[in-house]
Amino acid sequence: MTEQPFEENPIVGLGTSGVGAAMFDALLGHFAGGRGGGGLDPALVKTLRAEFERSEFFGRDMRQLWVMLERVVVKSGRSPGGDRIDLLNLACGYCEEGAVLPAFWGRDGKPVRQFAMDLRDAEIDKAKRRYRATEELFRRAGIPAVKRQDDGTAVEFVAGDASKLAGLGQIPARFDVVFVRHQNLWHDRPTWQRIYEFALDRVADDGLLIITSYFDREHLLALELLRALGGQVLVSERNADSRELDYPGKSIDRHVAAIARS
Ligand SMILES: C[S@@+](CC[C@H](N)C(=O)[O-])C[C@H]1O[C@@H](n2cnc3c(N)ncnc32)[C@H](O)[C@@H]1O
Repeated sequence: MTEQPFEENPIVGLGTSGVGAAMFDALLGHFAGGRGGGGLDPALVKTLRAEFERSEFFGRDMRQLWVMLERVVVKSGRSPGGDRIDLLNLACGYCEEGAVLPAFWGRDGKPVRQFAMDLRDAEIDKAKRRYRATEELFRRAGIPAVKRQDDGTAVEFVAGDASKLAGLGQIPARFDVVFVRHQNLWHDRPTWQRIYEFALDRVADDGLLIITSYFDREHLLALELLRALGGQVLVSERNADSRELDYPGKSIDRHVAAIARS
């Protein structure tokens, strides 16, 4: 499969505010237990929407991530999960996308169980704080129940070594979606090979492993490795809207790929 160029997507056509509106509604659904904003005071929802628009947590990168996910999922031709989505975010760092990912996968009202992991305690602490701050944003606006286990929704951040997860009993045997954002293959290939092996082993037969990369070459190496490990690359594309960083050739979510176990 050759790398596909970026193509205009109907969602992009909605403009930033269209994406923002879709993301806001999905976040509202996520934090209100799938009930959306239906039963809420419209004035409160309006205030919350304005706060959301100003929030640094849901700025350009998160909107681009949302659009990119919509695009690759559609192109993959897959619709992972049944009544519930089990989501694994490996090497999540401070997990900028900690609320956005479950909102995305739960945007049609399905409960999502997210399990996010990083090696570094400090990153996981930050991830928890960030997620809590997002919850707080919605709680302050009067969303009645932000902590719910009853509908199967859960978000868990865990500090641990993703290359040694195989023996960990607490995590599900299969995930509908495994997400690895900005993999670091160049830095430590043996570790990342183990992480990818684990990811491919745990992704459900109809599920998706989604990876993103900062660099062109690193992405190609990751795809090569995933294929060698038995992964089937369904979609891979350069994200033309990714934000350039200071380092030459490096940008946020520069490439994205959706991979299936074969
Ligand atoms: C390039 S950062 C990406 C972080 C985050 N996904 C993002 O997009 O900002 C790579 C992350 O991999 C984590 N990492 C490295 N080895 C790991 C391992 N064996 N298990 C879990 N996380 C690991 C690092 O702590 C770091 O946060």
